[in-house]
Amino acid sequence: MEKSIFNPELLSGKVAFITGGSNGGMLQDIAKIFLLHSAKGVVLVARKKEKLQKVVDQLTPFAAKGSECIGLTADVRDTESVHEAVSQTLEKFGTIDILVNGAAGNFLCPADMLSLKGFKTVLDIDSGGTFNASKEVFSQAFKQQRSGVIINITANLHYGGTPMMIHAGSAKAAVDATTKHLAVEWGPYGVRVMGLCPGFIDGTEGMARLSDMDSIGDKKKAAQSREKGVKTDDAMTDLVPLGRLGSGEDIAKGALYLASDASSYLTGSILMVDGGATLTCPNF
Ligand code: HXC
Repeated sequence: MEKSIFNPELLSGKVAFITGGSNGGMLQDIAKIFLLHSAKGVVLVARKKEKLQKVVDQLTPFAAKGSECIGLTADVRDTESVHEAVSQTLEKFGTIDILVNGAAGNFLCPADMLSLKGFKTVLDIDSGGTFNASKEVFSQAFKQQRSGVIINITANLHYGGTPMMIHAGSAKAAVDATTKHLAVEWGPYGVRVMGLCPGFIDGTEGMARLSDMDSIGDKKKAAQSREKGVKTDDAMTDLVPLGRLGSGEDIAKGALYLASDASSYLTGSILMVDGGATLTCPNF
């Protein structure tokens, strides 16, 4: 992002807590745009320390003067570790103003080949993780501050019942319900809760996983082909009304809008950042 169309001071003094993001992709772009717009702190939370540190190192040069990006290890499924990460963030920065619930798990698997454990694992990460982080950030920071923004990264999989996605679609349906419930319950505390729904975003872990038709239902094959770097499907481009796949920057700009006072009267709604794909794409 060379030249910003937003005020570079837009997030001045704000601290963002972002779950997921150690795989790079759109969460890294969200962290980057927050740093470029003067966020005081951006905290990335993920399971794997080394991968996380690499992303933090890549982001650090984009931190505006006085801003800082750090990584904290936690598994969003584990309430204790999320509690700890939120406490550490508050100790270091004194506040949390923005929570991005981005941690997610996904793979292609037909419903009849999916184990209950596989189904529950994705629900635990996506829906349970969103609940855990939202509850901890609200209880430790937003409730007392009487302000805050939550951005839940969601998906359009459950709108039309996308095949091989029963686990992720069900998980994201729960995330969308969570967005509405928390918007209503926490609105009186000055907390805004929104969903951000990406379409086909080029170069992301999600696209690689979901384009990898050879690995359907096979955990080992999926891991092997990801190591080789699965190519995303160019045919998808033709299905998008805006005629291109999305970029991480497209998503980041949506997140910046939601995180800032530019969206001050939005809550409970889901921002589609998909080039119109949800309107036109067949149900695969
Ligand atoms: C079938 C699979 C499978 C696969 C795992 N399982 N991968 N089943 N096909 N490809 C099953 C396992 O067999 C096991 O069940 C159960 O799921 C749990 O697997 P574990 O590997 O033990 O779980 P864990 O180590 O916790 O890993 C979670 C994970 C993993 C989701 C499976 O892939 C992960 O950590 N992913 C995080 C990163 C990620 O997925 N990013 C993509 C997000 S993209 P059994 O019964 O066999 O023991 C995204 C975008 C969505 O969310 C929207 C796009 C449009």
